Amino acid sequence: MNLVRPIVADPEPCADEVMLNDWHAIGFAEDFPAGELVPVTLLGRDLVAWRDSGGTVHVWEDLCIHRGARLSKGFIRNDRVICPYHGWNYEGSGQCVLIPAAPGEPPMKKAKALTHHAQEKYNFVWACIGTPARDIPAFPEWDDASFIKVSCGPYRFKSGYRALENFVDPSHFPFVHAGVNGLMDNPDPILPYEVTEGEEGLVSSEVQVTQPYGDPREVPVIAFYAYRIMRPLVAYFKKRLIISDPARAHEGNEADRFCTFLTAQMVDEQTSIVRICCAMNFDPAPTPADVRRRQDLVYAQDAAIVDTQRPERIPVDLRQELHHRTDLLGMKYRAWLARQGVAYGVY
Ligand code: FES
Ligand SMILES: [Fe+2]
Repeated sequence: MNLVRPIVADPEPCADEVMLNDWHAIGFAEDFPAGELVPVTLLGRDLVAWRDSGGTVHVWEDLCIHRGARLSKGFIRNDRVICPYHGWNYEGSGQCVLIPAAPGEPPMKKAKALTHHAQEKYNFVWACIGTPARDIPAFPEWDDASFIKVSCGPYRFKSGYRALENFVDPSHFPFVHAGVNGLMDNPDPILPYEVTEGEEGLVSSEVQVTQPYGDPREVPVIAFYAYRIMRPLVAYFKKRLIISDPARAHEGNEADRFCTFLTAQMVDEQTSIVRICCAMNFDPAPTPADVRRRQDLVYAQDAAIVDTQRPERIPVDLRQELHHRTDLLGMKYRAWLARQGVAYGVY
């Protein structure tokens, strides 16, 4: 593991291997314009991300190895990060290539920025501050040109795990999203569904719900959600849609799907940033602005409730809080987090 010298931070930075060795979305691609130093906090660690002139994104510890100044306060010149304190020059590999106070002397080999793994996928920039244990999870619609893709967010939540659990919880729709994703006066009974665990994480069978304003076309639909929880902070659903208003049924197609790929960046144990990418194949396609307006509404409704949940760290011991069979996916998620050794941000 690429553990660097201890960083003093409050709250304590994460020590969970499963979290350190995972990929975490830390922003959208457009959040990192070339030549800019962007400070980012992940799992209680202060990082700096920057894009070089070739388009490659770098994620480093936001700390100069010389005297610990924040590199993000410096600047970039000729694809080198210049520390704001004594001007040491770091090239893209992280190696210091110039100490201005001794320009004729090659810098020591150890004069190197603390670099991390970074890659771009699905319009997110991802970082791994340990050693990647696996690849970024699959988003099958991303490469399917029949789906339009719309990035939405960022949305602030306290607990990233609670935000993810809420994402896979269909029984809150009639209350939190009354009139949008459910009917408060006529909530759907949630029929038994199954959850299996495999290579892709936790996978649910379809859960059926009634949605009066069920998708960006503003039509009432019967929706069938199939969920996947791929990583502690990455989940996905594929929603099959049947238009329930007979007068508008002709607008639908059996193949219509609305999918969402969700990521949560844990800034610290009680602060997270949710970013999503929606994929849909309706014809006619909604505009990206329409999709975003609706997602902004729904995630604001979610955060308004989810951020009131206590304790803010999610209890993964199933003896805490009360579970019902309709919470099956949430229950499985909590037990799965505990089994993987997640301790950061849980209770
Ligand atoms: S602290 Fe960065 S150059 Fe001295
Ligand atoms: Fe919700």
